[in-house]
Amino acid sequence: MERKWLLFVSWLIIRVSLWACKVEGLGVNWGTQANHKLPLSTVVQLLKDNGIQKVKLFDADESTLSALTGTNIEVMVAIPNGELAAMLDYHHAQKWVRSNVVRYNFKGGVNIKYVAVGNEPFLKAYNGTYENATLPALQSIQNALNEAGVGNSVKATVPLNADVYESPQSNPVPSAGRFRPDIADVMTQIVQFMSQNNAPFTVNIYPFLSLYGNPDFPVNYAFFDGGATPLDDNGIQYTNVFDANFDTLVSALKAAGYGTMPIIVGEVGWPTDGDINANINNAIKFYRGLLPRLVANTGTPLRPGYIEMYLFGLLDEDAKSVGPGSFERHWGIFRYDGQPKFPMYLANENREIYLIGARNVQYLEKQWCEFNPNAKDLSKLGDNINFACTYADCTPLGYGSSCNGMDLNGNVSYAFNVYYQTQYQKLEACDFEGMARLTMKNISTGNCNFTIQIASSGLRTAASAASFTITVLTFLIFRV
Ligand SMILES: *[C@@H]1O[C@H](CO)[C@@H](O)[C@H](O)[C@H]1NC(C)=O
Ligand SMILES: *[C@@H]1O[C@H](CO)[C@@H](O)[C@H](O)[C@H]1NC(C)=O
Ligand SMILES: *[C@@H]1O[C@H](CO)[C@@H](O)[C@H](O)[C@H]1NC(C)=O
Ligand SMILES: *[C@@H]1O[C@H](CO)[C@@H](O)[C@H](O)[C@H]1NC(C)=O
Ligand SMILES: *[C@@H]1O[C@H](CO)[C@@H](O)[C@H](O)[C@H]1NC(C)=O
Repeated sequence: MERKWLLFVSWLIIRVSLWACKVEGLGVNWGTQANHKLPLSTVVQLLKDNGIQKVKLFDADESTLSALTGTNIEVMVAIPNGELAAMLDYHHAQKWVRSNVVRYNFKGGVNIKYVAVGNEPFLKAYNGTYENATLPALQSIQNALNEAGVGNSVKATVPLNADVYESPQSNPVPSAGRFRPDIADVMTQIVQFMSQNNAPFTVNIYPFLSLYGNPDFPVNYAFFDGGATPLDDNGIQYTNVFDANFDTLVSALKAAGYGTMPIIVGEVGWPTDGDINANINNAIKFYRGLLPRLVANTGTPLRPGYIEMYLFGLLDEDAKSVGPGSFERHWGIFRYDGQPKFPMYLANENREIYLIGARNVQYLEKQWCEFNPNAKDLSKLGDNINFACTYADCTPLGYGSSCNGMDLNGNVSYAFNVYYQTQYQKLEACDFEGMARLTMKNISTGNCNFTIQIASSGLRTAASAASFTITVLTFLIFRV
């Protein structure tokens, strides 16, 4: 009897302490542009283990949503930019809403809260490609949600890049924030429509990019530790670019007549490789500033209080485009294999601890591919390195990155190995016209990690999709 009580009490203590280290209210972006993906069920377990209650997706992938079924995690599903134009056809929008939202809207289904209509569709780099489709697509989707009877709980919003608003050069303070002149009309209409539907504004804010894009940018202003000369805006002192940027949006909304519109930060984070400022220490410094403020509901000078926020991102994605920069593949708070990179400040813990890593990760064999120093003919070396780095991720070799500064042998081995791993260690992937050889020795050096890739997740994905179909069928059968 006593023993039983003792067991119960220890169980209770473990439950309570597990619950206490949850990251309260924290959201993450779950992007999936990786060469090898963790099984979906492993990622969902990773979210659950760390108490991550909100997840933002970049599509409405059926197997991902099936893996999230029954978890009660809040989900933002998304319509990629390329599909916006099709939503001008209202019937198409109705169909999209039925198969990607309504379908999961049952007790024990998926807790879908938002539909992201496009992803940063007004980015200057897109040259206006999505300018005309975004507002009509937003309207079609929200109207279809309303018509289907889910519009009260599911809101359509447009995740926008912070370059949709700005302050004039002549008065570069947050209170002078206005929407970018070339899109001011459409932005005002979008805001008006979202306001009518009680939908929030969604913005992505990247202090890292402020620093990356501008060699004159004061480094301390990218973080939250003070130390930068404050920017004085009518008596408000701004000491970090996050607050200044957020409040520029608050002012732009106010000028458009929607000063109290709720704002979600759709993406915020710091990359850990691929640039001189992208490293673990800076990421720690950034999150060490951001997360306690989030937990304490500090908000910004113009919007004190809770801010709904989604970190970018959950996992590293080694197949993302490096158009914006090599750092693009290194935004994860977890590595490619679901292991935490650094400690983070957690609600209720009141200190930094490592998040719980992904469980039961299956890796390939502990073997590496390296440059063969006995190779005779090196005339095609350049071609072979280019080939490897086209199909695998060599960004850690670049300037300021974790594997920069190795000798030529090290460089070549890195390229050969990363290709070999990406190719699931297929024997023929470690040949490179006789210039490569296998080794059982871990050839990592210093900061440079010659990683072993994770095994494929293909089979499990199919299995979880099948189990979802059964869940839905069961639901339909028992409902009638
Ligand atoms: C936008 O225009 C620039 C310059 O004309 C061009 O290089 C780029 O490819 C264009 N981008 C898109 C998405 O059309
Ligand atoms: C958007 O519409 C305007 C006005 O109808 C037109 O001038 C412009 O070319 C359109 N832009 C695109 C990218 O289709
Ligand atoms: C190694 O590769 C990097 C990135 O391509 C390059 O900058 C560096 O010069 C190379 N080092 C040697 C010794 O070739
Ligand atoms: C290889 O060595 C590095 C550096 O010592 C280490 O961090 C990594 O875990 C090792 N990799 C494997 C697969 O054992
Ligand atoms: C190298 O990567 C492995 C796998 O994620 C990780 O366990 C290890 O800590 C990493 N080592 C370094 C030095 O980053």
